[in-house]
Amino acid sequence: MITMDILFACSELYPLIKTGGLGDVAYNLPLALHRQGHEVRIVLPAYRRILDDLSYLKAVGQLATTIQGYDVSLLKTNLKNTDIPVYLVHCPALFDRPGGPYGETNDHNWEDNAQRFGLFCRIVTLIGTDRAGLSWQPDIVHCNDWHTGLVPLLLKVYKSRPQCVFTIHNLAYQGLFSESDFAALKLPEVVNGVRLWDFRGLEFYRQMSFIKAGIVFAGAVTTVSQGYAREVLTTQFGCGLEGLLKATGRRFSGIVNGIDIKLWDPGNDRFIETLYGISSLHRKTFNKLAVQTEFHLGDNNERLLIGMVSRLTEQKGIDLILEALPLIQQQDIDFVLLGSGDRQFEQALQEAARRYPGRVSVRIGYDERVAHLIVAGADALLIPSRYEPCGLTQMYAQRYGTVPVAHGVGGLADTIIDIPPFSEDIADATGVLFWEYSCSALLEALQRLEFVYGNLLLWRDLQRAGMRQDFSWDHSAQAYSDLYQALLPESM
Ligand code: ADP
Ligand code: GLC
Repeated sequence: MITMDILFACSELYPLIKTGGLGDVAYNLPLALHRQGHEVRIVLPAYRRILDDLSYLKAVGQLATTIQGYDVSLLKTNLKNTDIPVYLVHCPALFDRPGGPYGETNDHNWEDNAQRFGLFCRIVTLIGTDRAGLSWQPDIVHCNDWHTGLVPLLLKVYKSRPQCVFTIHNLAYQGLFSESDFAALKLPEVVNGVRLWDFRGLEFYRQMSFIKAGIVFAGAVTTVSQGYAREVLTTQFGCGLEGLLKATGRRFSGIVNGIDIKLWDPGNDRFIETLYGISSLHRKTFNKLAVQTEFHLGDNNERLLIGMVSRLTEQKGIDLILEALPLIQQQDIDFVLLGSGDRQFEQALQEAARRYPGRVSVRIGYDERVAHLIVAGADALLIPSRYEPCGLTQMYAQRYGTVPVAHGVGGLADTIIDIPPFSEDIADATGVLFWEYSCSALLEALQRLEFVYGNLLLWRDLQRAGMRQDFSWDHSAQAYSDLYQALLPESM
């Protein structure tokens, strides 16, 4: 296999800054590519939270003193526990602010996000074309989500190297801005024969779309599961971009994510109460007790405990949970949730917890320890997403012998094997899927779950089948590696 130099551009990176799975992927995929022998470097904005948390950052490279009117420089750190370089685009006027990567809070966006990520894309392009004073020329620039969408466009100006891959982690977030924001970015009028302010370019119903730039100009476009890659070609899931994605043809494919099997390992997890493995599943009970205690639920070990760890947004099916909770708590089921996001979901869930004390418990916030504890201690993990490009928690759950109950969409359907209805033969099933997005379908799935839970031998089979799945990153990294190689000229 040939080895390549790869620049990985992203807006989040575990453990420095993360709002969801993108941050996890940005840590694990470069690491897996590095293990395969590639030279990988990562670039992301120098947000205040990162500047505050890292005590030593080295200034590197040489950029023009001002770019588009902003003072910009490059800082360098390493990916946690590795020698993989991470470049931080330091532009105090745009990135040194309180809050998260996109806004003050999770449900707020900064008004100048077009300028913020427009500038970020320019700097990624400078690094990608060895014009940042780093004396390094990548073969591939791997861009992720709309925040990096202008990179494939800007790189198109340099006809050959580097090649560009654009990965869509969530098509619903498109980076849409006004025509005046577009004008302020001072992009060329025409790139590679494509007029930018046109529906064949960046224009999307009179707005500028960053994600379209990525899709139109990248050498290859991917998304994070094969199932989602098929779904986004339909009007139901395509968010208005189904036509463009169809036209992208063989340039577009799905590569499923993996999970960090070191960080998520019930046999070696510093966050959980008691370690366990496939042959000591009885010890999982101590983690259930720890969750029950932490969340002030009764300590009934028999009662099915369902957990959830999620951003609280439309995507995640929170409305279904709110509709189902009054019915769920009438059954022999307790429910715990850890999450944060849209204010109205946070409030409605807290209200439900107040209504059903001791049976439903909710923690609003972001907390790594509690996330691990729930994944280890719950009997089942609920993931009722309306749509799910990949999803990581269903894979964590299976690794922990915690049975996922999920809506059969996207990456959820690709990574969970459904149990047959009410059968004593569950074959190699690893979870429960429901196919219609409705409260009744969710409740029916829970009935199937309870049926298996009532039979310890069957339940153990289900848990063990999940634990035997291989969700490591190596397969996905190999698929990306093959894709990169296919983009490079024969002579490489
Ligand atoms: P998405 O990226 O759409 O949010 P994923 O399932 O891909 O969904 O990734 C979510 C990631 O964020 C997982 O690593 C999950 O454990 C983590 N996560 C989500 N909410 C929280 C929370 N409140 N506290 C801790 N971790 C969370
Ligand atoms: C997005 C998707 C999620 C996916 C993650 C990482 O946040 O919503 O399904 O797992 O990106 O690719």
